[in-house]
Amino acid sequence: MTLQREDPFNVKGVLKHAKKNKNGLHQPVLVKEVLENLLLESPKVICDATVGTGGHAEAIVAKVKPSVRLICIDRDANALNIARRRLAPYRNRICFAHLRFSQIENLLSRLNLKEVSGFLFDLGLCSTQLENKKRGFSFQLDGPLDMRMDRSQEKSAFEVVNYYSQSDLVKIFKRFGQEKYSKKIARAIVSRGKVSPISTTFQLRVLVESVINPKFRIKSLARVFQAIRIEVNQELEELKQGLNQAIRCLAPKGRLCVISYHSLEHRLIREKMRKESKGCICPPHLPVCCCEAKANLRVITTKPITPSLEEKERNPRARSARLWAAEKLTHV
Ligand SMILES: C[S@@+](CC[C@H](N)C(=O)[O-])C[C@H]1O[C@@H](n2cnc3c(N)ncnc32)[C@H](O)[C@@H]1O
Repeated sequence: MTLQREDPFNVKGVLKHAKKNKNGLHQPVLVKEVLENLLLESPKVICDATVGTGGHAEAIVAKVKPSVRLICIDRDANALNIARRRLAPYRNRICFAHLRFSQIENLLSRLNLKEVSGFLFDLGLCSTQLENKKRGFSFQLDGPLDMRMDRSQEKSAFEVVNYYSQSDLVKIFKRFGQEKYSKKIARAIVSRGKVSPISTTFQLRVLVESVINPKFRIKSLARVFQAIRIEVNQELEELKQGLNQAIRCLAPKGRLCVISYHSLEHRLIREKMRKESKGCICPPHLPVCCCEAKANLRVITTKPITPSLEEKERNPRARSARLWAAEKLTHV
């Protein structure tokens, strides 16, 4: 299990690009490919589970008939407000919800909606989150150690860094960052924490830099920051639950599209799609099936779709993006 890129969020590239990006909004990736794979001939309800600043949602709502309803979800109230303003011309067709993936089924039942024609998950962070130093996501910007996507949540990066034990920090850096120097970094954090709390991104950065060879510093910083962020926001657990709930709520022939940005997400989605499209899981030596498991999905993208060179040039954040698409089978 290795990270495919040293800086999965391409922090430097994204920040440099942000200066040129005049409207200041997050630039959605793989928009054409999402529309091609997400939209059926006559969708009724589409759920954008990661509306962010509304780029994909705007493209979707502009493309579908006025009778199609959109549900736009985000756990970040700030992003949701930006999306609300951006999508104001379509407000009669959109329901906005401030919640997490793991609350999708609950929302749909409150809306009395039984089936959804398409789900989009565009994972990770918006550039508006990454570029805001007060959110504390980036080791390139000095800000409070925060990293909460939902600022009403209690646990922030401060709690993880200052209150987790050394062995828990090692586990997180290994599991969510695949960081080779996990022990060294965790030890440095815990011993510095005994003197005074580590409360800013730059304090954490300096600490990591103090124990890592300059040649590997950027990689280690990217991995450590990624690991803390995943832990703070429980991103992989949320993704698992979100996919399960979306698959259950999809209408027959409904579409599931997921855009992932790093190897932990890629692997989770690949395995989920494989499992859900497989059906019977009985050992091969059994003459008849006794598990009665049925396939729920037909995978459309046997290999995930990646952005064109032109898109990667234009939008550095697209560099590591992969789009996975599947269709709900009709017999279930
Ligand atoms: C890459 S951005 C989406 C950008 C969006 N597609 C656009 O075009 O502007 C990812 C968004 O997903 C949200 N998000 C991440 N995990 C979430 C979760 N578990 N539940 C709800 N929203 C989540 C983040 O807050 C962020 O706004």
